[in-house]
Amino acid sequence: MSEREKLKRQVFEAVEAYCSAAHDFSFDSTAPIVRLHEPTFSADEINAALDCMLTTQVTMGTKVKVFEKSFCAPFGHRNGVMSNSGSSANLLAIAALANPDARDALRPGDEVIVPALSWSTTVWPLVQLGLVPVIVDVDPKTLNIETNALERAIGPKTRGVMIVHVYGNPCDMDAISTICDNHELVLIEDCCEALGASFGGSPVGAFGRFGTFSFYFSHHMTTLEGGITIAQGADDAELMRILRAHGWIREVEDQEHWRRRYPNIHPRFLFVNLGYNLRATELQGAMGMVQLPKLDGYVSARRTSAQWLLDRLERHAELLQLQSETAGGYHSWFGFPITVSSNAPFDVDDITTALNKKGIETRPIICGNIARQPGLQMYPHRVYGDLTHSDAVMARGFSFGNHQDIDRVASAYIADAIDEFVEAL
Ligand SMILES: Cc1ncc(COP(=O)(O)O)c(C=O)c1O
Repeated sequence: MSEREKLKRQVFEAVEAYCSAAHDFSFDSTAPIVRLHEPTFSADEINAALDCMLTTQVTMGTKVKVFEKSFCAPFGHRNGVMSNSGSSANLLAIAALANPDARDALRPGDEVIVPALSWSTTVWPLVQLGLVPVIVDVDPKTLNIETNALERAIGPKTRGVMIVHVYGNPCDMDAISTICDNHELVLIEDCCEALGASFGGSPVGAFGRFGTFSFYFSHHMTTLEGGITIAQGADDAELMRILRAHGWIREVEDQEHWRRRYPNIHPRFLFVNLGYNLRATELQGAMGMVQLPKLDGYVSARRTSAQWLLDRLERHAELLQLQSETAGGYHSWFGFPITVSSNAPFDVDDITTALNKKGIETRPIICGNIARQPGLQMYPHRVYGDLTHSDAVMARGFSFGNHQDIDRVASAYIADAIDEFVEAL
């Protein structure tokens, strides 16, 4: 072993020793805290990232490519484009769809239907690309887009549907795929909360022309920040590789195609489209490769704790509405969302204050009803219907953590805290 390798080994061993001393995120009933999230990474991921730093191979390269291919394997193709966040993954999908070089490109003024209960950057890329979001209500049980309302909201300018698998609960992909086929609408799946989820045995993200995922710190697996857009078409993936990095051909798979087309411009600095800089780093690719094999285990831990809580909290069904897994779906439980019933003798602040006092962190569900957020009021959009259910989620919804470190003792602690709150009413 070379001197350099020996030194590296020492660094790695020091990291391992540090992490085994410092990284215990399991629930401690003597000082109970249930965080919204606990880290999914430790020494292996840190060392994978450190290795990039030590070798100075830090900018996007082989490790990102290997991660993209590994991530795509369950989707049956190789068209994954990693970027620096789930928001960038959404931006890349929409920017590719609305690019003049795209197959059947969307045009400014075209409408894309989105659920009211979504994240801001589900909707902003549509606005940024001159498209018009059409906001549709959600089903109060699954919290996903209401498919009858979706179909009724289609108008003469509607060209696409961008769905969100809310908190990892797969949308009804039979109904949505049929609607999209019947009305010739392009489908984009925002799966940023739904890593590891599937419908009818197929992973979410495999149904749409594009599927997007986030690897933000608090998600099912992480590259700290990070995201990926997967595409059914190799042409869409090539276009996203260009848009991701300056409009440059540097990252495309088929370099020859562009060189032949523009023989008079230096091929190393050939810019064939507009572009952003949304690149991931090599550190993120390296971390992703370590995290990916752990994903199924994390998701199954989340499913176990969610199922236990669903059963345990059923006794409060008149006061607290829980999320139902979509029939035929495999939910990956990003968190545990609850909506306080309209006839409950308390409001959402009462219950979240009580839980917070017991060390149980809470938060609103996604960004509530996006149609009510001030940011959207400045830009063209259309609202379909009265959005009653999304308003209810915004006014009376909350969630707490349902991460991989919530064990039975932690789940019982949460359930007991809720019982205690209800009994004291
Ligand atoms: C539905 C949805 N879309 C997009 C995003 C954006 O992902 P990121 O935070 O990685 O930018 C999030 C964030 O959690 C999300 O919940």
